[in-house]
Amino acid sequence: TQYSFQQHFDDKIDSDNTIEAKDWMPDDYRKTLIRQISQHAHSEIVGMLPEGNWISRAPTLRRKAVLMAKVQDEAGHGLYLYSAAETLGISRDEMYNQLHTGKAKYSSIFNYPTLTWADMGAVGWLVDGAAIMNQVPLCRTSYGPYARAMVRVCKEESFHQRQGFEIMLTLAKGTDIQRKMAQDAFNRWWWPSLMMFGPPDAESPNTANSVRWRIKRLTNDELRQKFVDVTVEQAKVLGLDMPDKDLKWNEERGHYDFGAINWPEFYNVVKGNGPCNKQRLEARRSAWEKGQWVRDAATAYAGKRAARKAA
Ligand code: ACO
Repeated sequence: TQYSFQQHFDDKIDSDNTIEAKDWMPDDYRKTLIRQISQHAHSEIVGMLPEGNWISRAPTLRRKAVLMAKVQDEAGHGLYLYSAAETLGISRDEMYNQLHTGKAKYSSIFNYPTLTWADMGAVGWLVDGAAIMNQVPLCRTSYGPYARAMVRVCKEESFHQRQGFEIMLTLAKGTDIQRKMAQDAFNRWWWPSLMMFGPPDAESPNTANSVRWRIKRLTNDELRQKFVDVTVEQAKVLGLDMPDKDLKWNEERGHYDFGAINWPEFYNVVKGNGPCNKQRLEARRSAWEKGQWVRDAATAYAGKRAARKAA
């Protein structure tokens, strides 16, 4: 009966067992996973664009090789995640269609422009740093295929974060102009990075269910606080100034207090009105359209092979 299926599911969740693709699961659990995993996949793929912008302009051969490897990793992450979402019964074509028609969300952070080489440092350090903070707990998320995809993703993200930090360190210890570039990139990426964790818990419609189902192990605000606490220490190593005049250690809480986040800006970007939303979606749509001949050729080839086999 429905009751016993539900009971079995609840018991599995409560005892920290993973739910697998063929297991019975409540419709809302399936829906929320498809939503989160597909948005996560789209973020990886759209996330290739701001950094792809700098591959041809990297300052040295070594920087170029590293950046290319990193951007390719992001493509891989998108593919693992699309595969994980497919196990829940949605097709890849449908997910692409949701992205291309603007129905699906992807992370707000990728709608900001990458203006200087220092942005490659800031993106690696802060954006990938925030991504790891959010994704390490997802290695223990309750849906097995998602959790297993996250293990490899996190290893690679940790390399991305280090390469970003190393770019920042080189610039911060470089000439006066280089140090200023690093500080400017930090100033521009800091607040959008804090927004990556999503709205405050009190205004996050999905958190309560996702925590109960152990999809999310930590809430948006908990992860954001952890990120602030570790990043402040890293900024000290870089010798850069935190772009927040209200930032202060709070002895009683054992955490840093930080200034107010511009939530209207966040919602505006999520709605499609950030500085690069149109450009990002256009790039994805155009890649899809220009790839039509490849899909046509592959389909024709498969058809020919099938006909030959049948003959
Ligand atoms: N950018 C765009 N949309 C966002 C963002 C963001 N930074 N944060 C929250 N939202 C959206 C949510 O998707 C949700 O919209 P929906 O209901 O239409 O799907 C709405 O705002 C309300 O947010 P929450 O109720 O807090 O949503 P949720 O519980 O899904 O939490 C979070 C959001 C933390 C991003 C979660 O989905 C998550 O952990 N996702 C996996 C990680 C991920 O997607 N990372 C992408 C960036 S990092 C990278 O890819 C390199």
